[in-house]
Amino acid sequence: MKLLVEFRSLLESSSFSVFELEESLDINFLPKFLPWRENQVKELAVLFKPLLFRHFDTINVVVKGPSGSGKSVTVKRFGEEFATYARERGIRLFFTHLNARKHKTLYLMLSEVAKQLNANIPNRGLSTQEMFKKVYEHLERKNAHLIFAIDEFDYFARANPIDDVTFLTRYYDELRYDTKRVSFIFLLKDLSPVVEVKDQITSVIDFLPYTSRELFDILIDRVKNEKAFKEGAVEEEAVRLIADTYGIDKNGSGNARLAIETLRLAGKIADAEEAPIVAVDHAKRAVAKISPELSIVGEAVKVLQLHELLLLKTVINLQKENSINMFPIGVVEERYSSAAKEIGEEPRKHTQVYEYVMRMKLLGVVHASQSGRGTRGRTTIVSLAFSPTPEIERMIELRIKDARAGS
Ligand SMILES: Nc1ncnc2c1ncn2[C@@H]1O[C@H](COP(=O)(O)OP(=O)(O)OP(=O)(O)O)[C@@H](O)[C@H]1O
Ligand SMILES: [Mg+2]
Repeated sequence: MKLLVEFRSLLESSSFSVFELEESLDINFLPKFLPWRENQVKELAVLFKPLLFRHFDTINVVVKGPSGSGKSVTVKRFGEEFATYARERGIRLFFTHLNARKHKTLYLMLSEVAKQLNANIPNRGLSTQEMFKKVYEHLERKNAHLIFAIDEFDYFARANPIDDVTFLTRYYDELRYDTKRVSFIFLLKDLSPVVEVKDQITSVIDFLPYTSRELFDILIDRVKNEKAFKEGAVEEEAVRLIADTYGIDKNGSGNARLAIETLRLAGKIADAEEAPIVAVDHAKRAVAKISPELSIVGEAVKVLQLHELLLLKTVINLQKENSINMFPIGVVEERYSSAAKEIGEEPRKHTQVYEYVMRMKLLGVVHASQSGRGTRGRTTIVSLAFSPTPEIERMIELRIKDARAGS
C-alpha cells in the first residue's frame, strides 16, 4: 500500500518538484501523529473506556470547535484506534463517522450505517424508527456496541425536525430497550442546536483555534514525518510565516486546514519557478493568493464605521444561515436593529441605514440593486461582494470592538 503511493507520487511529480509525498497535504489525509490534540484523544478514551468493560451505556459526547481546529481528524483517529483496540480484546465495537452534509436525514444516515455494518437491511419501505430498530437488532445479535460520530451536527440539527435530535439521545427510552447499544459523538461549531438535549450530553470537549506555535508543529510534522516535501526542500522560516499568518494569537483564525493548503500552494509556486526549495517569498505569495479577498475587504473595513460594520456583519450572518445570498434591505435592517440593541447600541434609522449600504457599495464590500417590480413594489436588494471566511469575520469582529471602544 505504502509502496504503491510512493510509486504514484514519483510518476506525478515533475523532476523539479519540491514535493515528495504531496498527498500528505490532502484534505482527507490522516496523519500518524496529531500534534496538540493528544489530550483530546485521551479525553475521548477516558469517556468511552466503560464500553471496554461491556458497560454498554450510551455515552454522548460533543466535540465543539471552529473550522479547522482538528475536530474531524481527531475523532476519526480516536474512533478507528479505539475500535481496533476493543476488537483485539474480543469486544465487538464498531465506529462509524458520517458527515451530515452528505447524509442529510436521519434515515439516510441510518441506512449508511446499516450498509457499513453489513447489516443487510432492506432499504425501502421502512420508517426512520424501524430503520433504527433494524440497526439496533443487528448490534444485539452480534452483542456489539456502536460509536456513531455525526460530523457537522449543527447542520443536521438545523435541517431536521428537533424530534430526530432528541430521538438520538433518548432512543432507548422511546423504544424501551434495556441495553444501550449506540453512543454518539456530535461534532459541531456551536452548541445552540443541542441545547434541547443538554441533559443527555455526557461531556463537551472544546477544541480551541490553533496558535502559531501549534500550527508550526502541525506543518512541520507534515513536512518531516509525513514526508510531504523532499528533505531540506522547505525553509523553516517559510513554515513560520504561514503559521504566523493563521495563528489565533496573531489575529488569524487558527485554522489548520488553511495553513496546510497554503503550505501546499507555496510548494506549487516554488515548483512553477523550478525553485529547489520553498522559501519565505513563496509562502508570502501563497498567503496572498489563498486570501486575496482578505486584503481587499481588509482595506475597506478599515474605513467603515461602527454601524456599517454591524450591517456588514448582519449580511454575513444572514448569508450563513440561509441558502440564499440576496436580501431585501428591510430584512437586513430588521436583523441589524435587533443585533445593535442586543449589544446596547442605538440602531440607526432607515434613511441612515440606506446611506450606509450605499457607502459600502462604493467601497466594494456589498452589492446593492433595485428589485424588479413585485407585488410590494421596488426595494433594494443587498448581497455580499465577497465570500466570507473566518479571517474576514474575525477582522470585522475586531474592528467592531475597536470602534465601540473608541466611541
Ligand atoms: N492536530 C493536528 N495535527 C495534524 N493535522 C491536523 C491537526 N488538526 C487539524 N489537522 C488537519 O487540518 C485539516 C482540518 O482539520 P479538521 O478537518 O479535523 O478540522 P475541523 O475542526 O473538522 O474543521 P470543520 O469544522 O471545518 O470541519 C485537516 O486536513 C486535518 O488533517
Ligand atoms: Mg470537520
